[in-house]
Amino acid sequence: MIPLAKPWFGPEEEAAVAEVLRSGWVAQGPTCARFEDEFAATVGVPHAISVSSCTTGLHLAVIACGVKPGDEVILPSYTFPATANAVLYEGAVPVVVDIEPGTLNVDPAAVEAAITPRTRAIIGVHLFGFPCDIVRLEEIAARHGVSLVEDAACAIGTRVGDRMAGAFGDVAVFSLHARKVVTCGEGGVLTTRDAKLAELVGSLRTHGADRDAGRRHAEGPAPTHAEYVRLGYNYRLSDVQAAIARVQLERLEAFVAEREKIAAHYDAAFADLEGLRLPPRRAGWRHSYQSYVVVLEAGSPVSPATFMDELARLGVSTRVGTYAVHRQPYFRERFGDRSLPFTEEAADRSVALPLFCGLTESDQGRVVEAVRTVWSGVKST
Ligand SMILES: Cc1ncc(COP(=O)(O)O)c(C=O)c1O
Repeated sequence: MIPLAKPWFGPEEEAAVAEVLRSGWVAQGPTCARFEDEFAATVGVPHAISVSSCTTGLHLAVIACGVKPGDEVILPSYTFPATANAVLYEGAVPVVVDIEPGTLNVDPAAVEAAITPRTRAIIGVHLFGFPCDIVRLEEIAARHGVSLVEDAACAIGTRVGDRMAGAFGDVAVFSLHARKVVTCGEGGVLTTRDAKLAELVGSLRTHGADRDAGRRHAEGPAPTHAEYVRLGYNYRLSDVQAAIARVQLERLEAFVAEREKIAAHYDAAFADLEGLRLPPRRAGWRHSYQSYVVVLEAGSPVSPATFMDELARLGVSTRVGTYAVHRQPYFRERFGDRSLPFTEEAADRSVALPLFCGLTESDQGRVVEAVRTVWSGVKST
């Protein structure tokens, strides 16, 4: 069975972990600090703060934007539920809006139409690694005086012109989960250009500690103790995870280039399949292909369920793209029924195909052949 995704680790990752283990410093420490500096440089922002996941990072981003109970935060419904959960953790209301069918990303016009006096923030999601129209979202957020968060869970390496995802808005959050381009199993990183916000997030992730308090009270140069000045959390990444993530980050360009090559192969091989909507492209924008997601348009020769079943029979793993948050039982019970047609189409008709570094040309060929076989209705033996 060809898997949908697979992390790529080499001897350098193993050596980096061994080095941290031998050092004895396995909780958050110097390796996390180095990783943060390198991550900030990669994204092109002054501050990066590592956290335990993108979900916990989004929670801290929501707090850092000053979101309070009862405030509204606008986000696309077509996203992983974590985007909306981060808003709910603070007792705020996720206002979900529809997407653009061509990009599967949030529709900026729908965002603007949803703004009310209670709106405190907008979360733009770069789904599957393709940029949402973050420049327009920046302009809308600025005009209405609300904060802008980038959910960049899937978007390390994603670019809009010469700006990397993570360098827009007030704060961005990346995921280091196993299905992401750069991974250490679980983990996340916030990036921001705002020094005050970075300091606040650093405190929130470490139990609400004031990191300078010890220095202020100490006689000598070493801090003696911290002061806990706000409600905080333990949302830290460990040095063991950071050691892996540092090596992975060095490979970022090679990882994205390989993903682009596989995606180009699929794009060319599927170009003539009528009704199969391929991932978006836009001149000057870089898709990092965290996932290669196609949409089976209404009228395509097979239903999405049959497509996935038949591909499984031919040894090709697939998965739905992502979810319509507003149709999940928990959200439905709390917020009632909504109708968001493009989100619903994407949730019902999108399929992720195998794409990962190390997917051999022969396995890419098997994926292509299997998709074409199922599409033309020819049952392979
Ligand atoms: C768009 C989006 N946001 C947030 C998350 C949550 O990331 P994590 O698993 O690192 O908490 C994911 C996970 O896949 C995601 O796809």
